[in-house]
Amino acid sequence: MARGFSCAFSFALNILAVAGAKEPAWNGHTTHGSTTPSAFTPYYVAPGTKSYDSSSPFVHYSGKWKESFSPGYVHNTIRSTSHPDATATFSFIGTGVEWFGNMGDRHGLADVYVDGKKLQTVDNYSATPLKQQRLFWKYDLPFGKHHMKVVNTGTRRDSKNKGLLDVDAFVVTYGTKTNRGQLASSNSSLPANMRGAMNLAESPSMVDTWTLEQKGSTGVHAMQLSIISPSHAIIVDKVEHNPLTIDGHPAWAALYNLNTHALKPLNVKSNSFCAGGTFLGNGTLINVGGNPVVEDHTAAADFGDVDGLQGVRIFEPCESDDASDCDIYENHSRIRMASPRWYNTVMRLQDGSAMIIGGSKKGGWINNATVNNPTVEYWPPKDIHGSNGLPVHLKFLEDTLNSNLFPIAFLLPDGKVFMAANQDAMIYDWENNKERRLPQIPNGVRVTYPMAGTGLLLPLSPDNGYTPEVLLCGGSTVDDTKPGYEISSQDPASAQCVRMVLNDSGISAGWQVEQMPEARTMPDSVLLPTGEILIVNGAGTGISGYGNVLHQVGASNADNPVFTPALYNPSAPSGQRFSSRGLPTSNIPRLYHSVATLTPDGDVMIAGSNPNLDRSEVKYGTEYRVEWFRPPYMRGERPEWVSKAPRLFDYGRSMQVEAKLQLGAVHGPDVKVALMDLGFVTHAVHANSRLVYLVTSLADDGKTLTISAPPNANIYPPGPGWLYLVVDGVSSKGMRILIGDGKGPKVDDAAWENMLSKTAVDQYEKEKGGKGDGSE
Ligand SMILES: *[C@@H]1O[C@H](CO)[C@@H](O)[C@H](O)[C@H]1NC(C)=O
Ligand SMILES: *[C@@H]1O[C@H](CO)[C@@H](O)[C@H](O)[C@H]1NC(C)=O
Ligand SMILES: *[C@@H]1O[C@H](CO)[C@@H](O)[C@H](O)[C@H]1NC(C)=O
Ligand SMILES: *[C@@H]1O[C@H](CO)[C@@H](O)[C@H](O)[C@H]1NC(C)=O
Ligand SMILES: *[C@@H]1O[C@H](CO)[C@@H](O)[C@H](O)[C@H]1NC(C)=O
Ligand SMILES: *[C@@H]1O[C@H](CO)[C@@H](O)[C@H](O)[C@H]1NC(C)=O
Repeated sequence: MARGFSCAFSFALNILAVAGAKEPAWNGHTTHGSTTPSAFTPYYVAPGTKSYDSSSPFVHYSGKWKESFSPGYVHNTIRSTSHPDATATFSFIGTGVEWFGNMGDRHGLADVYVDGKKLQTVDNYSATPLKQQRLFWKYDLPFGKHHMKVVNTGTRRDSKNKGLLDVDAFVVTYGTKTNRGQLASSNSSLPANMRGAMNLAESPSMVDTWTLEQKGSTGVHAMQLSIISPSHAIIVDKVEHNPLTIDGHPAWAALYNLNTHALKPLNVKSNSFCAGGTFLGNGTLINVGGNPVVEDHTAAADFGDVDGLQGVRIFEPCESDDASDCDIYENHSRIRMASPRWYNTVMRLQDGSAMIIGGSKKGGWINNATVNNPTVEYWPPKDIHGSNGLPVHLKFLEDTLNSNLFPIAFLLPDGKVFMAANQDAMIYDWENNKERRLPQIPNGVRVTYPMAGTGLLLPLSPDNGYTPEVLLCGGSTVDDTKPGYEISSQDPASAQCVRMVLNDSGISAGWQVEQMPEARTMPDSVLLPTGEILIVNGAGTGISGYGNVLHQVGASNADNPVFTPALYNPSAPSGQRFSSRGLPTSNIPRLYHSVATLTPDGDVMIAGSNPNLDRSEVKYGTEYRVEWFRPPYMRGERPEWVSKAPRLFDYGRSMQVEAKLQLGAVHGPDVKVALMDLGFVTHAVHANSRLVYLVTSLADDGKTLTISAPPNANIYPPGPGWLYLVVDGVSSKGMRILIGDGKGPKVDDAAWENMLSKTAVDQYEKEKGGKGDGSE
């Protein structure tokens, strides 16, 4: 039987494991109450939707139809016709409908009508026969009774022969009166939780007021998010039944156009479920780790994904405005990690390479000694401490079990790496493989998965010699040795934030404790060019994952979504740093698998939430809507970059750039240039997120800025960055730049070859006898 493990595997598994029963395939669709997985096909009945088989009395056929039987059809039956004008009609109550059937080389054109209006002529010709395909879908109907009609035109593409049409099933999305039907203002055909354009909170003129707009849909659920160009963000998900499709199957990654909100699906080969990511020094993005495939056989209707546990997915710099020629490249026979990792953190080092930290050797839920991968490895592979391309053991990752997945890590200005996991923290001198343990996080708060908090390196400034200080917020005090059935979605989250200056006196002073206005697990912390931090998303109770604990809401292990962000000003006096004043409140829960990032425009993009095994329409369902939190500095006149910066900005250099300051800022303004890494965001971890204030002076002409590059690669590791000009607290838009010499990290061919020769391709999948070579 196919086996597999999910990002947060189901409660059913806990029970089954106890009972010694077989594990259901994680990504196979398992009918409620059943343990037998069926094939992973486009046909999918999301929780909260209802399927009507071709033999249902609600489907009426006129003209000549034939009924056929096969286990490959939904409920073993299908109706087909090759007679012109043969019609199938179906009435339903809800907000959306999908039509499933076969595709093949005899299939022709069919007209689809909803409520008497012709919406589409569907051409489902396919050279290879496919079953249970989604032939048509419409999700944005106003809530109510609807009438769907499918009419065979009798014609066929490029053929004089009659076209075939068939009906295997209809799936209805019920939706809700308030949340879906009434929002049908958008022209997209996605359901309300997958689209939209409305202002949730647009309050009047106050200059210090933020605004919130809901606009756009991610098409694939936004588990991982990173800004890749002035116009696009990359979104990476797990293999699941997303509405956006590619090559006839649901997509699990996409590029999102920040200006037009258009989507481009990406062709990912392996399962990127709970991967991490980083840019390298030359601007290439890597997406690392994931989950196995589960099906032993890639059936025609399967998504065709391969094992992602050792995956290194390459996304080369994407320069075109429409992202047309940008895609993800994978070839596990050469490009892979030495060891399987699920829930690893990936961080860019001062040499432009990636450090890949920890994770589990297979998917599951809370980490444990059996599945733990207590090592770091590098991409490209390095020969370090005699590793010759293979992983290097890290005791910290053993000592921090169980709740230590997705460690929080930041490169420090002395070239060492800060790491926090569970209740502990340390500084890792990676070049000498030495750990320096830091004081434990106070009051029993755990900060990493599934007790996820969030962490940031506070802005680095030449004013204090780039003294680093870290901030960790939220998480949970739930005992990580308890089984899921002793944990509840109602267990309170932590409101604690702690910060520590990472020099000798700061470390001996220890963690400084503060409280957020509201407790949160799974918060996201987003650095703004002003140096303030927006804390958004997350839940007031419970922990990360789905299907594991008591009192799940739907499948969610967490409840009580926190809807109002909090703004943190790290330089205000203690006790006066948090404020929610002027911050709008959302009405979209952003729980497990939510993300947030600063954009080149200077606003905060919020997406995701999917505490579910697969797409779900019940609370808390799969969320595709995007929200935009706009800081007050976007309301009035803003400073602007006038001349373009050079593409590369190397250490020790300086450059002159012309800018236009906003009116009223000309006499002795407070001018700062923030160099920012917007990071790679997933699971509340904002890897590489960084703000470095650059030494800057404004000429007497009031427009020429002389800007110095960061002094060295420890302060800002080589790679992409964004320059924001902040004048009297008002930020410009970001201007992209590549810090360093633009060359990639050094490639050690011998270490790479050694890694390849000493490790197997997709070893997890091989062990259980599957295929799984990404090159196949
Ligand atoms: C069937 O055809 C329609 C329109 O030609 C297309 O939108 C849809 O994606 C097709 N279905 C599949 C599964 O390819
Ligand atoms: C809606 O349609 C209009 C006009 O066709 C188009 O300009 C706009 O971009 C569309 N909006 C979305 C969200 O697709
Ligand atoms: C993958 O790499 C192998 C070995 O280098 C090569 O033979 C093969 O052509 C590559 N496949 C693709 C699809 O690039
Ligand atoms: C360790 O975790 C894996 C994956 O979740 C699970 O299958 C296994 O039962 C766990 N082992 C122990 C000893 O808890
Ligand atoms: C540590 O940093 C703080 C804040 O910048 C500074 O006041 C202090 O002198 C530093 N201590 C040491 C030992 O460098
Ligand atoms: C950057 O370096 C990596 C690692 O050597 C390489 O795979 C990638 O192709 C390089 N990208 C560019 C744009 O040169």
